[in-house]
Amino acid sequence: MPGRPDEFEDRRGLARDFAQQHHAAVRNGSPLYADLCRAASLDLAGASRLTDVLAPWADSRAGDLVPLRVLGAVHRLVLERAAPALALWFPSVGGTAPTDALGRDACYEAWVDALVEHADRLPALLASPPQTNDPGRAAALAGALQLVAAAYDLQVRVHELGTSAGLNLLADRIRVSWPGGAIGPYGSILRLDDAWAGHPLPPDDVSPVVVERVGCDLDPVDVTTTEGRLHLTSFVWPDQAERLDRLRDAFRLAEEVPVELVRVDLVEHLRGLRPQRGTVLVVWNSSTWFYLSADQRAEAEQIFQELGAAATDDAPVVHVAREYLGDMFTTSHALVLRWWPVPESQSAYAARPGDPVQYADSPAHGLPVTWMPPQPPERP
Ligand SMILES: C[S@@+](CC[C@H](N)C(=O)[O-])C[C@H]1O[C@@H](n2cnc3c(N)ncnc32)[C@H](O)[C@@H]1O
Repeated sequence: MPGRPDEFEDRRGLARDFAQQHHAAVRNGSPLYADLCRAASLDLAGASRLTDVLAPWADSRAGDLVPLRVLGAVHRLVLERAAPALALWFPSVGGTAPTDALGRDACYEAWVDALVEHADRLPALLASPPQTNDPGRAAALAGALQLVAAAYDLQVRVHELGTSAGLNLLADRIRVSWPGGAIGPYGSILRLDDAWAGHPLPPDDVSPVVVERVGCDLDPVDVTTTEGRLHLTSFVWPDQAERLDRLRDAFRLAEEVPVELVRVDLVEHLRGLRPQRGTVLVVWNSSTWFYLSADQRAEAEQIFQELGAAATDDAPVVHVAREYLGDMFTTSHALVLRWWPVPESQSAYAARPGDPVQYADSPAHGLPVTWMPPQPPERP
C-alpha cells in the first residue's frame, strides 16, 4: 500500500530517508520495496527492533543512500539462501510478493528478522554505496553511439566513468529494438525490446566500430565471479523480473566481449585520457554524477574542457552524460552530448564546441528511452 505523499512529512533521519525511498520505489515500480520502506519509515520514527539494529547508521547523510544499502544487504542474504523465511516473499528466488495486509506484515517481520539475525554482517554489508549496473541504461548509450557513428567515419574508443561492472560498455553488442526498427547484432544474447520511443530516433543505418572499451570505478565489479554476480543482483529490486532477466543475460554477454576495468577515481582516469588520431574518443557516465562532490564535478569539468581543446577533426572527443538533471530522487535521466569539434550533423543544435545538447530522457533504470528534438538541456 503506497503511503500518501504527505504521510512522512515530519520524519527525520533514517525515517525520512526510508520515506523518500518509499516514494522512489512507488515511482519506479517496486510495490514490494514501497511497502517495506513505508513500514520501515514508520518503525524508525520511534523505538523498534529496526531502530535498534540500524542505530549505528542513524546519523548518516541522505546522500549515503542507507535505505538502498539496507535493502541490498537483505536481498543479498536472501540470494545467499541465508533468510529462508523472507525468501517466501521474494520473487527473485521463486517467492511470491505479498498481495494483502497480512502478507505485507509477515514479509516485513521476516525482513526485520533477517537484519536482526545477521546484525554481525551489517557493518560489512552496508560499508559500500549501492552499485547498480542495469543494462537497460545501455539503450540510451547505444543511441548515442549511433549518433557518433553517423557523425564521424572513425573507429570508436569508449571510456566509462563510474562503470561498476562495465555492462554499459557492451552497448553496441546488445540488440535494441523498437516498433519498426532495431540496432545491434540480431543474435545477441541480450535484447532490449520496445526500448526506444519518441522522435527523431538516432540513425539506424550505421554501425559503430568500437575498438576500445575501458571502464573505471572506485570499486569495479567482476561479473565473471559468483561474488560479483551476487553483489550486482542484490541491488536489483526483487519484484522486478525483467531487470533480473536482463542482468543475467548481460552476465552471459560479458563473457563474450572483453572489457577493461580499471580501479581508479574517475577524475584520475579522465586526466589520463588523450584524443587519438583516426579515432573518436567517447567518454560517458551514467547514474554516477550524483556520487561526486561539487569539487570533483568542477575538477572533472575542467579536464573535459582541456580534452575538448585538444580534440581535432581527425581526433574528436564526445562526452555523453546520462544523468539526473534535477534532484536525485526524480525518475528522469537526460541524455546530454557535448561534441569537440561540432560535426556537420550536429551544427544546427550546438553553436560552439562543447555546447550541451539533450537528445533523450529515460527513467532511472534506463527503459524506455524517449528521444526528442535536440535542444539545450533545461539545467546543464
Ligand atoms: C549507480 S552506479 C552506475 C553504474 C553504471 N554507470 C550504470 O549506468 O549502470 C555508480 C558507480 O559509480 C562509481 N563511482 C562513484 N564515485 C566514483 C569515483 N569518484 N570514481 C570512480 N567511480 C565512482 C560507483 O562505485 C558505482 O559503481
